[in-house]
Amino acid sequence: MNGRAFLFYGEENLKALEQNRLKQLEEIIERGKKTFVEVGLALLEIRDKRLYKESHSSFDSYCRERWGYSRQYGHQLMAAAEVSSMLDISNPRQAYELAPLVKADEQEAVKIWRDLKEEYGDKVTAGLIRRTVKNRIERIKREEGRKAPSDIEPPRNTSYRIDNIDFREIEIASGSVDLILTDPPYPKEFIPLWSDLSKFAARILKPGRLLIAYAGQTWLPEYIKGLSESLTYHWCGSVVTEGRHTVIHGRKVWTRSKPLLIFSNGKYNGPWIEDTIYSPGAEKEGHEWQQSERPAREIIEKLTGPGDLIVEPFLGSGTTILAATKAGRRSIGCDVDKNAVNIALGRLQNEPL
Ligand SMILES: C[S@@+](CC[C@H](N)C(=O)[O-])C[C@H]1O[C@@H](n2cnc3c(N)ncnc32)[C@H](O)[C@@H]1O
Repeated sequence: MNGRAFLFYGEENLKALEQNRLKQLEEIIERGKKTFVEVGLALLEIRDKRLYKESHSSFDSYCRERWGYSRQYGHQLMAAAEVSSMLDISNPRQAYELAPLVKADEQEAVKIWRDLKEEYGDKVTAGLIRRTVKNRIERIKREEGRKAPSDIEPPRNTSYRIDNIDFREIEIASGSVDLILTDPPYPKEFIPLWSDLSKFAARILKPGRLLIAYAGQTWLPEYIKGLSESLTYHWCGSVVTEGRHTVIHGRKVWTRSKPLLIFSNGKYNGPWIEDTIYSPGAEKEGHEWQQSERPAREIIEKLTGPGDLIVEPFLGSGTTILAATKAGRRSIGCDVDKNAVNIALGRLQNEPL
């Protein structure tokens, strides 16, 4: 046997040994994955029946001192175990990601898990579940907010007016508005809103004034089509966010900018426009879709004068109204979601204006 043949034989042997070891190790992991359900369910029973109370003052201290589990890890194990025993999921991370939806709407969680398995089979990942669950929970919250009756008392005698109402029903005098600065919802089901927004804007804007809308990229051609129904396309600017990229998985894009669609009511007759604005990054304390205040303030100060009227028909946490008020402009905002209106009013009352 020459040296080369020996080396070849050795490599083959090594490969077999490695494969064998991999199999043994994977069996250990497989067993571990099954026991996580048992561990989580055991913790749940200990917590619910307060079986720890003889030796520990709280369940968290029991987890920490007896098992070395942080509070978060203990709760993750329990949440994952509950979901796994219900939906037959053997992967703890996947089960954990589904847990918030199980809490919010059990039937919906079952449906989403079934749909994901059908569409992606074994390729379902914890990350995919997390994104799907996040979107679904946001939608549930929006629907709940829409159903809740309004019991809000907005303050009187301010330079802003906020209504808990659909923008298609709000009362604003025709031809009275100097700027619409807005951030409509981006998901596909909201595309028809963009043509309603176009009609609304054409009615309330003064001739030659602008509607500026933050926009997502995924359905951009549809938004442009909708807005073009009653307004004139003027330009597409962008807000560039300093700091981290956002990852758009569906399109395989890392992005740090957002389009600003600029449409005029007839021929534009305002000042020069700078089309790129820099934003200090995410401010999401008020609303999951909250925009930063700085770009709004910059747009308002460049395109309007003191006392001018600005409208935001998709109020959210009230960023546009806050920026307008700080800049000494009058403003009107509305939102169908009572929670959003409450958040906006809270921000307006708590921030120094
Ligand atoms: C993208 S968010 C706005 C976020 C806002 N820019 C901020 O900084 O918080 C869109 C808002 O539009 C609201 N909305 C959706 N449909 C609406 C409608 N027909 N009339 C009024 N508001 C609506 C949603 O409830 C949501 O709060």
